[in-house]
Amino acid sequence: MAKMIDLFDMTGKVAIVTGASKGIGAAIAKGLAEQGAKVVICSRKQESLDLYTTALEKEGISITGIECNVSDEEQLKNLVNKTIELYEGIDVLVNCAATNPMFGPIEEMESSLFDKMINVNVKSIFTLSNLCLPSMRQRGGGSIINISSVEGLKPSPNLGIYSVTKAAVNMLTKSQAKEWGSDNIRANAICPGLVKTKLSAGIWKNAAFLQAFTERLPISKMAMPPEMVGLALYLASDAGSYTTGGIFNSDGGYMIS
Ligand SMILES: NC(=O)c1ccc[n+]([C@@H]2O[C@H](COP(=O)([O-])OP(=O)(O)OC[C@H]3O[C@@H](n4cnc5c(N)ncnc54)[C@H](OP(=O)(O)O)[C@@H]3O)[C@@H](O)[C@H]2O)c1
Repeated sequence: MAKMIDLFDMTGKVAIVTGASKGIGAAIAKGLAEQGAKVVICSRKQESLDLYTTALEKEGISITGIECNVSDEEQLKNLVNKTIELYEGIDVLVNCAATNPMFGPIEEMESSLFDKMINVNVKSIFTLSNLCLPSMRQRGGGSIINISSVEGLKPSPNLGIYSVTKAAVNMLTKSQAKEWGSDNIRANAICPGLVKTKLSAGIWKNAAFLQAFTERLPISKMAMPPEMVGLALYLASDAGSYTTGGIFNSDGGYMIS
């Protein structure tokens, strides 16, 4: 008899993970590959991707890195086409790439930065998911995982427009789940709390702030990227087959603190 743990097996599945040369995306890509998926990752710099895939090779894990700026539609098309050329289809899409170029009050944000954040954090998910949809439909289903943030649920000072983009990601996720459920395509969002990565360095490098922040959390620490992987594997695999339209916090209890 099959074991329940086998539901997490990703053998035969093909996954794209954006923004995955480092941080949370890199950890999720590694987790998917360890579970047997064929994984394609992207970031803006081929050399960063090569650095990561070469390091993984030494651990016996093979992942393909394709340079792609998610705010460029032609590059997204290339990412999808190359993945299909390599592996004949797409089953899982993890939209992880995002940007937060400014820490400061809303009224001081230049409109070009506002546009950039909408493009990278929201529009790229709309475009790339739409591009992957025909292949997922053809293969009889799929799983889309959008990496959002607790900021999309509860805004912090100086992160105003970032929070706006993540709230939009949450609603886009629910709309995808609603419209594509009949195609057996699930869509869910993960809302991490504070995770130690380059993106959040401005926060955790401030020792006084970090201490005050973590003291208030039920799990009194910031997370490391691998701590985001288990939930992503659940959502990507058959273990999560009845889970769609969900917005899941993985935040050390931040939302109840
Ligand atoms: N860290 C946290 O505390 C935290 C909390 C809540 C939510 N999140 C969310 O988690 C996700 C991952 O963040 P992270 O903290 O892991 O960030 P990170 O460590 O800074 O990694 C970001 C990754 O995205 C790539 N990237 C950036 N802009 C891109 C673009 N335009 N096109 C393609 N790739 C791009 C980067 O590589 P290149 O520089 O080579 O492009 C890198 O691989 C984001 O959606 C973020 O909003 C993070």
